[in-house]
Amino acid sequence: MEGRKSRENHPECGYAYVRIWQVRVSAAVEVAPSILAADFACLGDAIRAVERGGVSLLHVDVMDGHFVPNISIGVPVVASLRKATRLQLDVHLMIENPEQYIEAFASAGADMISVHQEATPHLDRALAMVREHGCKPGAVINPATPVAMLSEVLGKVDHVLVMSVNPGFGGQAFIPEATEKIRELREIRDRHHYNYRIEVDGGIGPENVAEVVRAGAQILVAGTSIFHTADPAAAVREMAHLASEALAQRV
Ligand code: DX5
Ligand code: ZN
Repeated sequence: MEGRKSRENHPECGYAYVRIWQVRVSAAVEVAPSILAADFACLGDAIRAVERGGVSLLHVDVMDGHFVPNISIGVPVVASLRKATRLQLDVHLMIENPEQYIEAFASAGADMISVHQEATPHLDRALAMVREHGCKPGAVINPATPVAMLSEVLGKVDHVLVMSVNPGFGGQAFIPEATEKIRELREIRDRHHYNYRIEVDGGIGPENVAEVVRAGAQILVAGTSIFHTADPAAAVREMAHLASEALAQRV
């Protein structure tokens, strides 16, 4: 919960009172391992490892070779993941015509579905479809897209995903301008009493966890820095620890 106090006067009797605005936003920061960086021949093992690390989300990158220059995971893999784990499946659609596939990913077992602002002229419709199919809708922006492009949907989403790399590949370097976008999204949420969580994706690791968490990030997607280590469970725990320390320092 985050709160904000304001001193106000009753509109009719003029009685002065303090109003406490409550914004339903969880203070906890979650690490969402991106299985794009895992060994696809041993996905079950990868999932068990991050479950041991204590995560509750699994980030699933869906790429079509058109919206991004890479092809990755599709509906059947999401259905298999659903059978293999009770973790929440955070499906990140990096595909053209996302509306065409929302129902299939929802039926396959997605819990959260994120749609890129750049991927459809009908973002509002796509987000509504996600909710109609029982999943949490999220809007995503690429590094070149300003937060302002989401102004009309921020009141309708459960999360906003800020890309801190150009989507398509794991293992890229964090683009530092993402931090300011996270801060901006946090300020907009506070000002308008919106409910979305702020997620960041790309180049996240122990070296920049504190920076993005202090800015306001609440879901940290990380692939390489978790699965390309000898002990993914330990990597998750370390990032979660760094996140909670940074949260405690946040003013
Ligand atoms: C990039 C994907 C990311 C990617 C992150 O297009 O959306 O989720 O897996 O990988 P790392 O953490 O290696 O940057
Ligand atoms: Zn992603």
